[in-house]
Amino acid sequence: MFDYKQPYVLNPDAPADRLDAKRPPVDNGLEVVDPARYYSREFMDKEWKHLWPRIWLLAGVTADIPEAGDYFRFDHGHESIIVVRQEDGGIKAFFNVCSHRGNPIALNEHGSVAKFTCPFHAWKFCIDGKLDCITDEQSFHPQLVAHRPGLTEVRCDTIGGLIFVNLDGKAPKLSDWIGLPPGYLENYEIDKMHVVRHMRTEWLANWKTGADAFYETYHLPHIHPQTQGVMEDYSQYDLYPNGFSRMIVPICTKSHRVDDQDTVDAGLQYMMMEAGMDPAEFTGTARDVRKAVQQAKRERAKRLGLTHYDKFTDSQLTDSWATGIFPNTQMGLHPEGVFIMRFVPHPTDPERFYYDNITMVRYVPDPNYSVPGWMGLPKDTDVTGATRPPVESHGAGQRADLGEVLNQDVDLVEAVQHGIRSRGFRGPIWSEQEMRLRHYHREIDRYLNGEK
Ligand code: FES
Ligand SMILES: [Fe+2]
Repeated sequence: MFDYKQPYVLNPDAPADRLDAKRPPVDNGLEVVDPARYYSREFMDKEWKHLWPRIWLLAGVTADIPEAGDYFRFDHGHESIIVVRQEDGGIKAFFNVCSHRGNPIALNEHGSVAKFTCPFHAWKFCIDGKLDCITDEQSFHPQLVAHRPGLTEVRCDTIGGLIFVNLDGKAPKLSDWIGLPPGYLENYEIDKMHVVRHMRTEWLANWKTGADAFYETYHLPHIHPQTQGVMEDYSQYDLYPNGFSRMIVPICTKSHRVDDQDTVDAGLQYMMMEAGMDPAEFTGTARDVRKAVQQAKRERAKRLGLTHYDKFTDSQLTDSWATGIFPNTQMGLHPEGVFIMRFVPHPTDPERFYYDNITMVRYVPDPNYSVPGWMGLPKDTDVTGATRPPVESHGAGQRADLGEVLNQDVDLVEAVQHGIRSRGFRGPIWSEQEMRLRHYHREIDRYLNGEK
């Protein structure tokens, strides 16, 4: 069923131009990479020189800054960026650095301002980055401030409700750099969703050790055996240009490892109820549940006037389309909402990263609709979008409760980091179920080797 020559294909009948079609194979070689990339300072420095400044980084979402003056801060390694909505509806980004002596001008994660005021000596900046006023300007030699030093702009562009920044300003156009076909992200209408939860935790591992663990479902039966009743662990893995990739993880189905493929037990009943179905009325077997849930969701969307569901394939209605935005972001895409995970490098330590977990939902104001329970939101979560929740931050060693499955991943990733460090480890041996890992590591190497 999963052969290295013929990787698993979920729907062999999908036409080649449809988004669920299996992508053609990519030859990324068979190199076993040097594990030093997961812990050495040299490798981290190379990433800072040749990778991070040159690519587009997912900074945030348009839904977080609906009005002029709304801003958020995006920190990546030692850089901090402010992204702010303009008077004309556009979006600009600036280094979060005062042009006077370098103090950060925005200390909050989110906010809304008429002008930015630096906390150090109160220089003021307009939301378009221009210098507004210098405190005690008469005390500066006019020659020093004649150029009216404003904020340094960062190149910024959006696609499908996602905001990206490029630090060196020289990356190809965002639409050319995004390796995903048109519509892939846009169909979800993420610009009409809003953030309902934002957690940030510090993990004791390299950011790539973190990303690797979320780029395959090979580990599911072993680390997360509780998922077997509702989820297949043979995913369809697809590789896109520029280091992008996705896996389609079939949900509302049992893992092929489960002997009893007939009984509709509690897990599948739950998934049916979350789609508005009554399991007591269901006459099929466990094998029929995924299709039935897809139909139920389509019908419900019609009733609710959610016309964008017409653009989704059946698979998108039930399955997780876990999509890798090169190199350090993965989005779990669902019509009801999306999960954004960023593996953000630590400013100085190659064996730490910040795991940023953002949950967005599409609010549907209908008494017969509720945000699905499998999205894992706490009971009192405001899903209406009336308020943007603050970032829940947890430092290393402070164990945040990320939910059962993610808690298992934290322990795993930190243990793997430890093992990678051993002189007995010779480098990762990647299967075809781990083709996404090879694909994005190979792309990183292209940047680092000067091939890009
Ligand atoms: S550093 Fe910003 S006003 Fe002095
Ligand atoms: Fe996991």
